[in-house]
Amino acid sequence: MMNSKAIDERNEKPFLAVLNGGVPERTPFWLMRQAGRYLPEYRELRTKAGSFLDLVYNPEFATEVTMQPLRRYGMDAAILFSDILVIPHALGQDLSFVQGEGPKLDPVRGEKDLSRLRYDDTVLQPVYETVRGIRNAMADEGMEETALIGFAGAPWTVATYMIEGGSSRDFIHAKGWAYSEPDSFAKLIELITEATIVYLGKQIDAGAEAVQLFDSWAGALDEDQYARWVIAPTEKIVLALHKAYPHIPVIGFPRGSGALYPVYAQQTKVHALGLDSQVPLEMAVALKDICAVQGNLDPVCLLSGGTAMEKRARDILETLGGDRFIFNLGHGVIKETPPIHVEQLTRIIRQF
Ligand code: CP3
Repeated sequence: MMNSKAIDERNEKPFLAVLNGGVPERTPFWLMRQAGRYLPEYRELRTKAGSFLDLVYNPEFATEVTMQPLRRYGMDAAILFSDILVIPHALGQDLSFVQGEGPKLDPVRGEKDLSRLRYDDTVLQPVYETVRGIRNAMADEGMEETALIGFAGAPWTVATYMIEGGSSRDFIHAKGWAYSEPDSFAKLIELITEATIVYLGKQIDAGAEAVQLFDSWAGALDEDQYARWVIAPTEKIVLALHKAYPHIPVIGFPRGSGALYPVYAQQTKVHALGLDSQVPLEMAVALKDICAVQGNLDPVCLLSGGTAMEKRARDILETLGGDRFIFNLGHGVIKETPPIHVEQLTRIIRQF
């Protein structure tokens, strides 16, 4: 049972109101990667922490980094500062972030490597501590209308990093395994799915008010593989969370899904769909018949700023604003983005 204070909060926070089917008093917005290297105060704390993982696992620093963009721009939602790769880390995989090269993992390449993996939730205690820290900081700083989003990578996207050992262009090893030995690949997906259900549940217990599943590489799979490795595990996570936490909305972001967005929304039963920048606005309007939508300004358009950005942001707001819509980018803020462009975007959204 929810107490009445919690119900009031759901209605008073515009971001949660949209996810719960209400009509908010303003169009809520937040930006994927709103905390990050484009902000000088982030770079300063990042240097102080040492490595990226030292920042992620330091609750005090991670809380501070989460708060930085909110203080500047007053987004309607904070997103926990962490990374999708903490799940492979908690499964026992070696993980490091090499400056300028991105993540490096000790690759898992087949059934024989699966026995090495075992989920140890204690690794993630600092993340839950950060969630509590952010809720406290938001209360202390009077951000009553700001919601906190928890997140995880979706199993397919997390699996690509675990198998390729880092970022990839063509996913030869991950897709190759899925095509050639689907039964053992399913075991890996199952392992990640179960860990993700525990991980997101604990984020919610610690104070996350909504969660987002990042499936950044959903667009790499054909229709059959997509059904099996994107839709099915996502549906399982949504169902488990919905049972345990009926009042917590789930946002799915299956980037690059194209023509498969509608079937993803229908089958996974996510409360909202994150849309990449290529999704036509007319298609986004049609998707609002299934669930709320979130998106989809091109991050490069934000990087460029100026009148082109202003025009596109207004087009998005005019076509999608009103109800069932959360303004966001189609992918994360790029590190070269001038902070003043984010300020310009904030003004456009608030004036709408
Ligand atoms: O503000 C936020 O959005 C919350 C924090 C957040 C980060 N990563 C911090 C981060 C979130 C939600 C993520 C998700 C994430 N991480 C995804 C899914 C979204 C997407 O971008 O597609 C993926 C694929 C990752 C994996 C990852 N983490 C990569 C490939 C990299 C290296 C590339 C890069 O941008 O440097 C990271 C590192 C990372 N995660 C950084 C940040 C701020 C930069 C690291 C640094 O500060 O040195």
